[in-house]
Amino acid sequence: MSGRIPRQFIDDLLVRVDIVDIIDSHVPLKKTGSNYTTRCPFHNEKSPSFNVNRNKQFYHCFGCGAGGNVISFLIEFNHLNFVEAIEELATFAGVEIPYENQTGYEPEAKNKLLELQEMMAACATFYVEQLKNHPQKNTAIDYLKGRGILGIIARDFMIGYAPDGWQILSPHFNNTELLCEAGMLAFKNELYYDRFRQRIMFPIRNKRGYFIGFGGRVLDDSQQPKYLNSPETPLFHKSNEVYGLYELLKKNPKPARILIVEGYIDVVTLAQFGIAYSVAALGTNLTATQLQLLFRSTSEVILCFDGDKAGQDAAWKAMDAVFSVLNDNRQVRVLLLPSPHDPDSLLREEGVDAFTQRIENAEMMSSYFFNHFTTKLDLNSIEGRSKLANQAKPFLLKLVDSFFKEMMLAKLKELTYFDIAPTIEKEKVVYQQKYQKEKNVRHSLERLTLALLVQNPQLVGKLVENPIDWQALEFTGIEAVKIIVQRICDEKPATTAHLLEHYRGEPEEKMLNALAFLPILIPDDGIDAEFSGALNQLILQGRKNRLEKLQIQATTVGLSDPEKEILLQLLR
Ligand code: UTP
Ligand code: MN
Repeated sequence: MSGRIPRQFIDDLLVRVDIVDIIDSHVPLKKTGSNYTTRCPFHNEKSPSFNVNRNKQFYHCFGCGAGGNVISFLIEFNHLNFVEAIEELATFAGVEIPYENQTGYEPEAKNKLLELQEMMAACATFYVEQLKNHPQKNTAIDYLKGRGILGIIARDFMIGYAPDGWQILSPHFNNTELLCEAGMLAFKNELYYDRFRQRIMFPIRNKRGYFIGFGGRVLDDSQQPKYLNSPETPLFHKSNEVYGLYELLKKNPKPARILIVEGYIDVVTLAQFGIAYSVAALGTNLTATQLQLLFRSTSEVILCFDGDKAGQDAAWKAMDAVFSVLNDNRQVRVLLLPSPHDPDSLLREEGVDAFTQRIENAEMMSSYFFNHFTTKLDLNSIEGRSKLANQAKPFLLKLVDSFFKEMMLAKLKELTYFDIAPTIEKEKVVYQQKYQKEKNVRHSLERLTLALLVQNPQLVGKLVENPIDWQALEFTGIEAVKIIVQRICDEKPATTAHLLEHYRGEPEEKMLNALAFLPILIPDDGIDAEFSGALNQLILQGRKNRLEKLQIQATTVGLSDPEKEILLQLLR
């Protein structure tokens, strides 16, 4: 294999093959109504909730939430990487892959997010250059040396140096607006200035290698804050990303386990000592999204936290996220380090063998979970045992149906002499309805419109005929929605599968996947009308907002002639 696979070829391949045929050749499907169903191959279940839709060319499991197009299915089911999945599909379709050389590849049409990521990449390169060439580079080099970080590792992680100055990036890149959107500048007293000054810079890359943010550490420990992170930007959502995943997967695309640690330096030091399978949560509580991200590349995650109070609390807080992503194929263990150590200091003190031994001996999540309660409760009394049942219940409610869940319930029964399984079954329905309700509340008009469009890209014609006045609308996430709608209008993807494929690995991928699987309980023959209705509402809302704005403007600063014209039109 050589070079990269042209996008157009992948699109064509998705037209050639039928997801129903491919999945059916792996797990036999049964036709039920307009869908094909079977028991889900990705989790244990008694009744089939795995659905394959031929029109949309994608699959979805209502039990465990697995879903995607035919390429995702092959990746998940056969444990392939992306290229291997394409190769298998090509073989299935009987076509040759026309590999392209990297140099001959035509870059995709630019959009805002790509522009932002290019700016971030340029900043990362700039900071690396400063570490090599800046007159004050020695302050940074000496610091890194003092921390025992080798040049070769600094290079792997593209560690850089933000020099001491308030106006360095803007004059260098000459694009203040983009730098600001990328979170590289801060704004105060009508002045833009560099957010990161006199810091060691750790670029944060997403799974695909895009530069999405930075963490910056002070050189002088008396300065505050010790670490400064990029703010939330259209590219960077702290709670969805981890530090070090790209670098990890580059070394080993299928790690047997991934260690989650607390700090940037920990990830770097672990890699330097040959433990090149750690990532860091970005200074926030661990989220289910972060865990899902990791479980797409491995089947075991080890939570490795400092043994101090903060670390212990962080490990326990992570259980919320852990319980909502676990199934029979995934395992979590917990490793609390002796206080006051973190992985960086402990590794340097006791060496790699002793540390590896700790990883080997890390405690199973199930045992950690029950110990957390049993060390505090008196299980010889009904009082203690009922507290245990009560405190464990909300966690167990989150588990998908699996042997793991049944065994956790069995263990709880062993400890309490009481079977809470029937209670859990009963409350599960209420829990799921509540969860579903929360989801439904978020079905705002724009979300519904976009979800219908994503699930039925053929509706794009209506949108082109009746454009929405985006400028007049305001809601959170409008920028991403605009980009997606624009791309659907430009590219006219044939099916949802094509659309998802265009966004694989891109920042909007998660949002699109969520939209593709948003349960919209509308029969196929009602979709057209529903979309027209939602679209009209959005257009009306846009007009109303615009009208209000113009009326206010008319009574304050006044209107220009074209604005008066628009106002008259709107009033008609
Ligand atoms: P720690 O304070 O434990 O630092 O923060 P550390 O990783 O041991 O750093 P060194 O060894 O002193 O360099 C752990 C993580 O918490 C986040 C960062 O992600 C950091 O790596 N953090 C910490 C912040 O975001 N801001 C801070 O001010 C401190
Ligand atoms: Mn440390």
